[in-house]
Amino acid sequence: MSPSFPSTRLRRTRTHGWSRRLHRENVLTPADLIWPLFVIDGDAAQQPVASLPGVSRWSVDLLLDRVGEAIELGIPCVTLFPNTPDDRRSDSAQEAWNPDNLTCRAVRAIRERYGDAIGIMCDVALDPYTSHGHDGLLDDSGYVANDTTLDALVRQAINQAEAGADIIAPSDMMDGRVGAIRQGLEQGGHANVQIMSYAAKYASAFYGPFRDAVGSGDRLKGDKRTYQLDPANSDEALREIALDITEGADSVMVKPGLAYLDIIRAARDRFDVPVFAYQVSGEYALIEAGVAAGIGDREALVMEKLIAFKRAGCAGILTYYAPFAARILAG
Ligand code: PBG
Repeated sequence: MSPSFPSTRLRRTRTHGWSRRLHRENVLTPADLIWPLFVIDGDAAQQPVASLPGVSRWSVDLLLDRVGEAIELGIPCVTLFPNTPDDRRSDSAQEAWNPDNLTCRAVRAIRERYGDAIGIMCDVALDPYTSHGHDGLLDDSGYVANDTTLDALVRQAINQAEAGADIIAPSDMMDGRVGAIRQGLEQGGHANVQIMSYAAKYASAFYGPFRDAVGSGDRLKGDKRTYQLDPANSDEALREIALDITEGADSVMVKPGLAYLDIIRAARDRFDVPVFAYQVSGEYALIEAGVAAGIGDREALVMEKLIAFKRAGCAGILTYYAPFAARILAG
């Protein structure tokens, strides 16, 4: 029987700050964050990315300072994206398996300086290395060819593992790449290297600033809808995730983040692997534009969005706000 007295039963626990804290269901900590960093050639070079206010590309020496900052803030992992010099981009993307490419040099430098104090994740996809900005190799008709691309991705992954990457993150969306990379890593003596698959990666309008940052945007012909997911689909995303897990992914990612919280929740409910979200460049840039336009306070906007990922079921979040949020969480 329900009590007859009028009730503020839902609100009662919200009256005081201590009580709100006591009843809080989800928490965000610096250990939930992965910081994406852009790398350029040269020394003592910092290049701000115009479409990502507050984000820069760093030469390897300065990148080390950023990584030191991450360690100090308790951020457990960084992920690296190279802006490859123009003369090293090609139709075959061969720079992707050059042991001295920018990514590998950055990985070795971080490892040398900081040992195992922080995890190093590397993206696997050919877009920073192709002359046309696609994630895969093109056939004669200009179509992104799945199977020839797989060989290139395996070479890229092994190259990064050899340099010392801890997590390989295939973001290319070719079919079969997780299995092929897993097999390549095992055969290459890298059984302990993890795979975090960009399993549900959508053909999104929110990647624009990232493509500026890695220098693939201007050269990209067409779009990526022949290999990335249709934003209208959710069952298909779950099929992608299931396949990647079967093929050997240790964890999976949903990307972009905020518009796809339903996919994160569904993946979390259905599968028994950690689910991550990527709060992508366009999401970051829109918050920054909103803050600049006086729409809200940066801290409040960012923290609300980040806790939404935890509420949806994420084990962690890739975000350009990682150091900003970690500083706030440190109090
Ligand atoms: C490319 C890649 C992209 C991002 C991460 N890896 C862009 C794309 O698919 O074109 C996007 C990240 C972001 O927007 O912050 N393989």
